[in-house]
Amino acid sequence: MVNDRLWWEREDLCYREGRLHFGGHDLASFVTEEGTPKFVYRAARVRDNLERLRAALASQGVEHDAFYAIKANRHEPLVAYLKLLGRCGIDACSPGEIRHARQAGFEESEISYTGTSVSESDLDCLERHPGVHINCDSLSMIRRLGRRCPGRRIGIRVNTGLGAGYNDKLRYAGHKATKFGIYRDRFEEAIATAREADLRVETLHFHVGSGYLGDALDALEQVLERIGALLDTHPEIRRLNIGGGIGVRLVESDVAIDLDRWAALIARHMSRRGVRVQVEPGDYLIKDAGVLLVCVNTVEDKGGTRFVGVDAGFNIQNLAAHYQTPFIVAPLRRVGGAALERVTIAGNINEALDLLAEDVELPALAEGDLLALLNVGGYGAASSSNHCMRGEFREYLLLDEG
Ligand SMILES: Cc1ncc(COP(=O)(O)O)c(C=O)c1O
Repeated sequence: MVNDRLWWEREDLCYREGRLHFGGHDLASFVTEEGTPKFVYRAARVRDNLERLRAALASQGVEHDAFYAIKANRHEPLVAYLKLLGRCGIDACSPGEIRHARQAGFEESEISYTGTSVSESDLDCLERHPGVHINCDSLSMIRRLGRRCPGRRIGIRVNTGLGAGYNDKLRYAGHKATKFGIYRDRFEEAIATAREADLRVETLHFHVGSGYLGDALDALEQVLERIGALLDTHPEIRRLNIGGGIGVRLVESDVAIDLDRWAALIARHMSRRGVRVQVEPGDYLIKDAGVLLVCVNTVEDKGGTRFVGVDAGFNIQNLAAHYQTPFIVAPLRRVGGAALERVTIAGNINEALDLLAEDVELPALAEGDLLALLNVGGYGAASSSNHCMRGEFREYLLLDEG
């Protein structure tokens, strides 16, 4: 049994008698029936994450609406759970996501659409759903939407030139031009284009990137200042959508975001302007509410590195391989006092980048051991592929608790 808690343990995700429990369940019990790889999500954690965020905004008096960014995880039972919970709408970025949200029971009025490189067939879908709110990401989209839907109320996605996220690859604005949103130098042109196209701009939208933490609040403040200046020149715009992107601690040294400070910043810049705020969290709601169970099949030293091979690969959870954001690896059984060794966890895809965790310290592992990868609820199943025809996995939503 391990006496000292690991830094990431929390009440609903911790070792009890040396066995990893999630929401009161021994995670090993989920493996026996169907095997691995298997994602397990905990609905109550998603709810708590959403409520924490909303409570922070409410405590600062920020009038707001929340939209879950369904791109992070579209598992049908999860989306249905959120509909029944009734505390958020859906942020969609494609016709498929609009249909998926509608099938789970979300009304058009509960859906906000913000897409990029929007095609004519995407616009066909938006035209068929007049109650869906649309944030336009380009002048081209404004022009083409206006031809189809004169009189519609829209939002404009703005790129303020400042981004934030876990690392450079996950910042959606910065020194290098990105494809997202309309830059400030063309903002007035976008407003004029909307006016000519008989579209009414009622929302501004921005999204700084994915995974910003406590140390990014200064950058967020600068973004809000720039957005505030745009709002001052257009007092008819009454809503600001601040996108998603809030991150969770991935390593012990990460600085957690202080949601009270975050909300106070938003209040300081928006409440005095009387602007209603919208948020689109994806990963923040689901990331730490999901684990991926895998089984060790190979333990072998190669070239001085101990590789631990498992039965899932970067095709099922690609964040570490594509964005170098680390997963936490937790053996489902952990015996107290066991010596630690440095290992690299390798997936089962024939690509050199298929390493799920590099040079991590774990108790000695053996073939047949079960592991959980933590902080994998978002952008795992939703962005998985059938690379090497190893696209099979199972998903399970834990609902049976308070
Ligand atoms: C416009 C927009 N909103 C919200 C999100 C959700 O971001 P996250 O899952 O990091 O919260 C994204 C992610 O790409 C996005 O592009």
